[in-house]
Amino acid sequence: MPSPLNNTTFCLHTFGCQMNKHDSERVEGMLEALGSLPVATVEEADIVVFLTCCVREAADTRLYGQVSSLKNLPLRADSPLGERVVAVGGCIGQRDGEKLLETMPHLSVVFGTHNLASLPGLLSAAVEEGGRQVEVLESSEGFNDQLPTVREHSWAAWLPITIGCNNFCTYCIVPYVRGREKSRPIEDIRKEAQGLVGQGVKEITLLGQNVNSYGRDLYGSPRFGEVLDAVAETGIERIRFATSHPKDLTDEVIARFGTMKPLMPYLHLPAQSGSNRILKAMNRRYTREHYLDLVRKVRESCPDIALSTDIIVGFPGETEEDFADTLALVKEVGYHQAFTFIYSKREGTPAAEMPDDTPREVIQERFDRLVEAVQDGAFAANQVYRGTVQPVLVEGASKRDEHLLVGKSPHNVTVHAPIPEGLSIAQLEGTIVPVRIDNARTWYLSGEVL
Ligand code: 5AD
Ligand code: SF4
Repeated sequence: MPSPLNNTTFCLHTFGCQMNKHDSERVEGMLEALGSLPVATVEEADIVVFLTCCVREAADTRLYGQVSSLKNLPLRADSPLGERVVAVGGCIGQRDGEKLLETMPHLSVVFGTHNLASLPGLLSAAVEEGGRQVEVLESSEGFNDQLPTVREHSWAAWLPITIGCNNFCTYCIVPYVRGREKSRPIEDIRKEAQGLVGQGVKEITLLGQNVNSYGRDLYGSPRFGEVLDAVAETGIERIRFATSHPKDLTDEVIARFGTMKPLMPYLHLPAQSGSNRILKAMNRRYTREHYLDLVRKVRESCPDIALSTDIIVGFPGETEEDFADTLALVKEVGYHQAFTFIYSKREGTPAAEMPDDTPREVIQERFDRLVEAVQDGAFAANQVYRGTVQPVLVEGASKRDEHLLVGKSPHNVTVHAPIPEGLSIAQLEGTIVPVRIDNARTWYLSGEVL
């Protein structure tokens, strides 16, 4: 019997981190397998699925607006459904569950972070039986690795190695909505990586909230280094990983940056703050000195490594002196990139209970100073590539100029170059081409394909 979703259309809205983006590839795979067709706009869509994020308040607010805007939108003329089915999943689904139905009257389906595989069933029930379907499991079903997946690019893949987080940084909601850390057996990771290489994938990004503690729950001690070895043995060209908690980054992993050819010279190492007092209040369990020592060791192992980080400004009780420590850290490390966030209070986290009386303008002014320092650092860091030749994995044509190709250097820096005459972008996508770098800006390099 055909699925009730057969001949419908769907549109996916994904917010937040790479884990959510990876989940959305699975949702796309499952719906396509049932005969539903992806469309680009909500106007054309019979089914709209939101994969939500609640790490910061801004993403929360946006969801309510977007769901409400669907209320008066007519369904396309030849839809097989009587009315549009709207589903909310991911972190907000997990956190708010059934409560969402009260605030969003035309929402039909709510699902959590732990039950992605149930989504087709929930949607089908909503179509066939009408009414509203909710399923939010307490803990994880596992890695959903049997689910069909539609990847955005055929040459790049995300590969989750852990889900959940045990760290309970005091500002962070993730451990509450993604659950405790769970590692995937190393043999399963190896098999998936082998399969991806067989399909022509050039770059694998290993995913986890804290990849460095991989294996603690399965094997009693972290074994992330062995995961890297297993993936490298498949013959993959490029390996990246995210995210690394500094307290768990081991010498074994650092050493691999110097020796493992496919491991790209790029490390995202969230510092969050440069002040020991604030790091302690954040429950990060490392000091500024330890962090700087890690940076020194990483650079000893791989002198040209590119570093990026996450920084939170305006954590409760942050003083001008604390902020000065953060700014100094950013300048001292010289990051290629830094993701900067203004602290956002999340109910249910310990930081939400901490006295927080820094005026908004003061925080904004600190944030602006930080952004300026980050830009200066990125511009300076990129200058070293002038005159070098970088192997660039081509991602596609530039959205602004179809004559330009866009790709990533090993250091994860965006590179632009004119598409060589006689070649089409379709021929270049997913290949690695040598580019001589002539110009280095803050957020990208440009040059000529050799
Ligand atoms: N407020 C601001 N930023 C946050 N992050 C996590 N929780 C919060 C919060 N409550 C940031 C951290 C983390 C990144 C993914 O999001 O910097 O590393
Ligand atoms: Fe959140 Fe900290 Fe876990 Fe990262 S390590 S997901 S910031 S609790």
